[in-house]
Amino acid sequence: MKGVVLAGGLGTRLSPLTGVTNKHLLPVYDKPMIYYPIETLVRAGIRDIMIVTGGNSAGDFLRLLGNGSEFGLKDLYYTYQRGEGGIAEALSLTEHFADGEKIVVVLGDNIIEDNMASFVQEFEKQKNGARIFLKEVTDPERFGVPEIKEGKVVGIEEKPKKPKSKYAVTGIYMYDESVFDIVKTLKPSRRGELEISDVNNRYIKEGTLEFDILKGFWTDAGTFESLFHAGQLVQAKKRN
Ligand code: G1P
Repeated sequence: MKGVVLAGGLGTRLSPLTGVTNKHLLPVYDKPMIYYPIETLVRAGIRDIMIVTGGNSAGDFLRLLGNGSEFGLKDLYYTYQRGEGGIAEALSLTEHFADGEKIVVVLGDNIIEDNMASFVQEFEKQKNGARIFLKEVTDPERFGVPEIKEGKVVGIEEKPKKPKSKYAVTGIYMYDESVFDIVKTLKPSRRGELEISDVNNRYIKEGTLEFDILKGFWTDAGTFESLFHAGQLVQAKKRN
């Protein structure tokens, strides 16, 4: 399985921190944010990783990460997203890289404690479809929120005013090769982006979306609150 880190976007919610640099290069405790999703993939046993950058300072990723030797990798692959087309559009840029293999996608501002290795193995065995990962949160309205009935996810709403569960859909996704055909059929949402929740809803319709619940901590780091919280979680873990 191959890995993808999505690290484009303008990070406007963190302005002025993102005025001259990319959100994913900002520090989370003692490392640049982008280190965490790369480490998530490497810990899970993924060796072929593509980073989708964009927006400010795209060249700095290359200077910072090089060929990924710091993570024990031989190579890192890069591609560039123009503009703010959304997560699903960024993902579509990796079709050539995926080359028919299953992929695990991590949003560049998502930080998790769990080791995803067993989930990767399970998804290798899953015949087709997708797999998402949920985490109970106190503010589900900030995220994609699943509706769960009889142990199945029956729908996902993006940032709902009235969430149908207390879970967030985290920014870690596993897809079979049909994801790229799905993205090609999507229409931009109200915020003008191709939404990853629309991709997942398509798999739900097909009856091929599975899910797991993460055990350890999970946070995004795309707002001042969550960026600060992410630093605290990482610091607390280092102390233990
Ligand atoms: C994105 C997804 C959302 C998901 C979240 C996880 O939101 O659209 O479904 O719950 O990442 O971090 P965004 O960060 O683009 O607002």
